[in-house]
Amino acid sequence: MRFKDLDIISMKDFSRDMIDHILDTAEKLEPIANGEDKSGILNGKILSLLFFEPSTRTRMSFETAIKRLGGDVLSLGAVDASSIIKGENLTDTIHVIEGYADAIILRHPKEGSAKMASEISSIPVINAGDGAGHHPTQTFLDLYTMRRESRLDGVKVAITGDLKYGRTVHSLCYALSLYNADITLVSPKELRMPREIIRDLKNRGIEVKQTDSIEEAIQNVDVLYVTRIQKERFPDPAEYQRVSTSLQITAELLKNANPELKIMHPLPRVNEIDPDVDFTPHACYFRQSFYGVPIRMALLSLIMGTVE
Ligand code: NCD
Repeated sequence: MRFKDLDIISMKDFSRDMIDHILDTAEKLEPIANGEDKSGILNGKILSLLFFEPSTRTRMSFETAIKRLGGDVLSLGAVDASSIIKGENLTDTIHVIEGYADAIILRHPKEGSAKMASEISSIPVINAGDGAGHHPTQTFLDLYTMRRESRLDGVKVAITGDLKYGRTVHSLCYALSLYNADITLVSPKELRMPREIIRDLKNRGIEVKQTDSIEEAIQNVDVLYVTRIQKERFPDPAEYQRVSTSLQITAELLKNANPELKIMHPLPRVNEIDPDVDFTPHACYFRQSFYGVPIRMALLSLIMGTVE
């Protein structure tokens, strides 16, 4: 397996062996991620962050990962303060950054933008979310969370919320198809998983179940993966209003759930998980957001070739 200089664009590009190696590497790096150990694995490396959309966890956990490994962060900062505001296009921005940094971490509202950037860039590109398309680094940390807190191979998972526009769940489903997962999709019909993804999963031998009843779906699963309705991606605000309150997970709803059930969420949450749930043993979304640090450490060290 060769990771050096690899672009990280879509989970479709990763085999199970590659994913397992990334998760194993993250596990070894966890004591550095939580500050117990120190490391200079990324000494002398400059990693650039280009975020054209808002972000808290993805951007900050990348920054934490880089800093804990002794690397340097080069950030575009706010788009309004860069030459983007003067009308510079993404292609030119990429060509400029490749002269400054050793890798580009890109978040952009346009689907396919990370792929396009990787095709023109001489340094590796990591997709930190391309519109409603993919979000592979989130998926690696989601898989890591399942492996660590529940189980990954053969995991039974219910995925709820905005399956239409949610890039995290698009990436997640492709990855879960490599782990014999039993997947149930729960959403109102307006927010169903795109047909093309369901078809791809079928071709990979995974038959997903679809329902609009959350009560039914949580009866028999290991993991409930909740997502936010992606307000910013709705072409029609009235359509968002119609579906925005369609689902809320409450402690009451979980009363008879499997005691081992883990609730995950890529965050930010709006109102799809009641804060009451935070105090139940099911909640694992804040630990999940921490796991973004060892995962992003693993990805950066592997593609920089400083870890094998
Ligand atoms: C997600 C995203 O940006 O797609 N957030 C994240 O990276 N943790 C989920 C979301 O915005 O709902």
